[in-house]
Amino acid sequence: MPPNDTQAVLAMDLDASAGDWTPTPHGVLLAEALAEHPELFEGRDVLELGGGIGNHTIPLVRMGVNRLVTTEILPERSETTRRNVERNCPEATNVEYRVADWLHTDGAFDVVVSNPPFAKSGKRNRRYFIDSLTLDAHKRLRDGGDLIFVQSSMADIEKTTRRLEENGYAVDILKTSEGPFRDYYFEDEAFMEEMKQVEDGFEIRDGTYYERLFVVRARLLPWSPPKGAH
Ligand SMILES: C[S@@+](CC[C@H](N)C(=O)[O-])C[C@H]1O[C@@H](n2cnc3c(N)ncnc32)[C@H](O)[C@@H]1O
Repeated sequence: MPPNDTQAVLAMDLDASAGDWTPTPHGVLLAEALAEHPELFEGRDVLELGGGIGNHTIPLVRMGVNRLVTTEILPERSETTRRNVERNCPEATNVEYRVADWLHTDGAFDVVVSNPPFAKSGKRNRRYFIDSLTLDAHKRLRDGGDLIFVQSSMADIEKTTRRLEENGYAVDILKTSEGPFRDYYFEDEAFMEEMKQVEDGFEIRDGTYYERLFVVRARLLPWSPPKGAH
């Protein structure tokens, strides 16, 4: 399959079991951004965190990654990723399915890809998974490696950019989109209250709430600790 044919890369037959995450506009935007940049993946070693139903795993395989490790938090979630990849990419022999808690997994990679939990992160700091990427993804990335993920304006894109830069990354936005709130946002009062505190987190136009989505590419700049550092 030609790696620059984005439609072919994104054509997928996906199924989900009870409890699997059904892709939202975040996942759709990330898939499109990945497919528009095959040069970031071809021949590279990739770690995907939270593969879900495989909506990014499959495009990554099709774009010719060298090796792909895709993780999930539970064995049954990981089985869904495997089932969908095996049906859509029956020839693929370079995919490893791991059950792992976020970045607590081994290996050195050229790219880390994720659609991190946010609105339903289940953490006191709702940004926990994004913050964890900014602080610790470097442990899995080779120098010059790329951390690529999607987030909402409500997760504070300015804060993310600042934290990535503080942690040695050069930041680009690969793609953005705007769309109305998901219904489940309104069902979570605490979420709605928190989001009001985020500057430029959302806009209301004609009574409709809109968020903006961003696909972030953060390139880990080479760096060595000074002599004598702990
Ligand atoms: C926002 S969903 C994204 C799923 C899929 N990649 C997509 O974009 O549709 C986040 C995924 O991360 C998984 N997940 C949640 N906590 C995790 C953890 N601690 N470690 C690994 N995966 C986790 C969830 O099961 C879910 O599939």
